Amino acid sequence: MSDKKKVLVTRKWPAAVEDRLKQLYDVTLNVSDVPMSGAEIRQALKDYDAVCPTVSDKVDAAVLDVQNPRAKILASYGVGYSHIDTEAARKAGLAVTNTPEVLSECTADLAITLMLMAARRAGEGEREVRAHKWTGWRPTHMIGTKVSGGVFGVLGFGRIGREAAKRAHFGFGMKVIYFDPFPVKPELAAETGAEQRATIEEVLKEADVVSLHMPGGKDNYHLINDARLSLMKPTAILVNTARGEVVDGVALANALKKGVIKGAGLDVFEGEPRIVTDLYECENVVLLPHLGSATASTREAMGWRVLENLEAFFAGSTPRDRVA
Ligand code: DGY
Repeated sequence: MSDKKKVLVTRKWPAAVEDRLKQLYDVTLNVSDVPMSGAEIRQALKDYDAVCPTVSDKVDAAVLDVQNPRAKILASYGVGYSHIDTEAARKAGLAVTNTPEVLSECTADLAITLMLMAARRAGEGEREVRAHKWTGWRPTHMIGTKVSGGVFGVLGFGRIGREAAKRAHFGFGMKVIYFDPFPVKPELAAETGAEQRATIEEVLKEADVVSLHMPGGKDNYHLINDARLSLMKPTAILVNTARGEVVDGVALANALKKGVIKGAGLDVFEGEPRIVTDLYECENVVLLPHLGSATASTREAMGWRVLENLEAFFAGSTPRDRVA
């Protein structure tokens, strides 16, 4: 019998990271990449020393309702952890870790991609060309919105929000304003000359682009709703690379249809991969399949970060990314 720790990985990971896991642990990988059911993850908590879920696995109180699980750590792959009921994990005696920092730049890059695509109607334009419907250049064709020199509003001024702000400020000369419920060090705001606003509402009223970077979960559920969308400028763009549940998708589809706001760029969806049907009908929304961290180097870096957390935990120290 092997004296290596038994580790379960719920989805397919980058090959280099999987190879290293095989060297270090008695690991069960998900070669087929078929999502595991709640019941399977629950069973894994009884059979393995560590379970490594990711942001698409729902690890809720029912899954975590296990008496004396063999597993003592959920080493999650991804920065967001609203898919894990951390209180239930704590009750079951499980530590929880995530993978922050290494994906901030790429996620911010994607927020800017969405801003530009929505503002400059890039999705619409591509659909027109691919449908062989483009009839040629003309002065009034597919007119978008200039973002350069505008106001970039950040809700959630953490690592990813600040990276997005840098890109907007230094790349497009945008003034940055932000709201964050937690104190932000003045030197971090100073990097982009970002001005704090006292409420979400103030940011919504003033910004030309509103980019969401707060965590998901019940605290921020439908934070962007009918009432808040109606505060935004009719020319404004909403970008969501945070979590789907932060935005009421039905309210957003209505706002896009009625011209309450100009456009939106979404990388995340409540209940993804399902999407509010009405959004498919809106030409003025860009829809991406949760690609925020999807670059080769970042996805590997996220894996290395899980390995670091596992190594520290099994060595008896506190993993650097322990969140619960
Ligand atoms: C995360 O890590 O939380 C991201 O959403 C995955 O790209």
